[in-house]
Amino acid sequence: GLGVGALLKETGHVTLDPGFTNTASTTSAITYIDGDAGILRYRGYPIDELAEKASFLEVAYLLIHGELPSQAELDNFTDNVKRHTLLDEKFRAFFSAFPRRAHPMAVLSSAVSALSTFYQDSLDPFDAEQVERSSIRLIAKLPTIAAYAYKTSIGQPLLYPDNSLGYVENFLRMTFGLPTEPYEVDPEIVRILDMLFVLHADHEQNCSTSTVRLVGSSHANLFSSISAGVDALFGPLHGGANQAVLEMLEQIHTNGDDVESFVRRVKNKEPGVKLMGFGHRVYKNYDPRAAVVKKATRKALDLLGKPDPLLDLAMRLEEVALSDDYFVERKLYPNVDFYTGVIYKAMGFPTNAFTVLFALGRLPGWIAQWREMMSDPATKIGRPRQVYVGETERSYVDIKSR
Ligand code: ACO
Repeated sequence: GLGVGALLKETGHVTLDPGFTNTASTTSAITYIDGDAGILRYRGYPIDELAEKASFLEVAYLLIHGELPSQAELDNFTDNVKRHTLLDEKFRAFFSAFPRRAHPMAVLSSAVSALSTFYQDSLDPFDAEQVERSSIRLIAKLPTIAAYAYKTSIGQPLLYPDNSLGYVENFLRMTFGLPTEPYEVDPEIVRILDMLFVLHADHEQNCSTSTVRLVGSSHANLFSSISAGVDALFGPLHGGANQAVLEMLEQIHTNGDDVESFVRRVKNKEPGVKLMGFGHRVYKNYDPRAAVVKKATRKALDLLGKPDPLLDLAMRLEEVALSDDYFVERKLYPNVDFYTGVIYKAMGFPTNAFTVLFALGRLPGWIAQWREMMSDPATKIGRPRQVYVGETERSYVDIKSR
């Protein structure tokens, strides 16, 4: 009658699984991945269908509440988000206090963490109404925070949110608009960024999501849990890969577009040389998100009238890698980060802001996973065991005798 965990404890055994390659940390009804077949579904809906047909806020609702919203539910959700886009005026001091050259992900995580200082009326993880309020606050305020981080880094004035605009258009305006000029953006570009957010919205128990869950399992509030997720996403093996991919492409381009010699260096495992944007713990097939992004990249560059040699370079890299035994044997395919950077760059985002865009997209997934965990009676504080390999017992030696 004992569960596996209890049984292992009972018999004095622990399992050792570095990197959790084979250990599930939870049950979940949110996202399904079949890594061998290259399948990804949110709440049962295939990712390419959602990318094509659903809006980001609709997908956020789906992830958090489990069902697609009716029109009335979506309108209500959208309205609610719009009513929370402003930041407390004191937040401005926050942005101006950071060094100009601060990485926007560092600013984002600090600012998200600071939300629990400003919004103390929604910190109780067991009060459903407060949790809903903090979820809406996060979704509403993250674009404002991201845009303000960018504006302060380039020394431009901050723009208040314009709640007559859609979620993504408002974000783009706060990021690229100026108080002196009306802001205009092609609706198809807005749609592409919205779709990129949909593609990033959840990915089951990845590093940042597991972090959000682990922090939340101590009953830390939602803001604190999410800021920990932002920090986990910062790393180049996770969300930071989109920045690393663009830097890699630029470097290869500067060195004369010699794709073959770069791939050779990757295969020789030269220290620090990896094909960034390739490989995935779960996908041993083409990442279905990468396929959608690849198609959107050409379209975005055409719409923006910004052809980019880095796109052709990325496509050649993919071609060379996918016909090379090293990558074939290891089942290394492009992941979601391989092409996104080229689009973000064409849209005008600086390279170090790319991971912030990933965070904006991933936010609803983090919230949904945190809420699923908090409402599951089987949840316990996350507390991995270890296999001790240090010294056995020994006696203290006085400092004079060492
Ligand atoms: N370039 C070259 N070789 C690679 C790459 C890569 N991008 N990825 C994996 N490999 C090789 C490894 O060296 C290893 O080879 P070996 O068996 O000869 O030692 C083999 O493939 C298996 O790789 P692991 O590192 O064991 O796979 P793991 O599941 O631990 O890592 C990860 C997955 C971190 C994504 C890895 O593929 C990687 O570092 N990729 C580049 C960074 C990246 O694009 N990250 C974004 C991931 S997606 C996301 O967060 C949205």
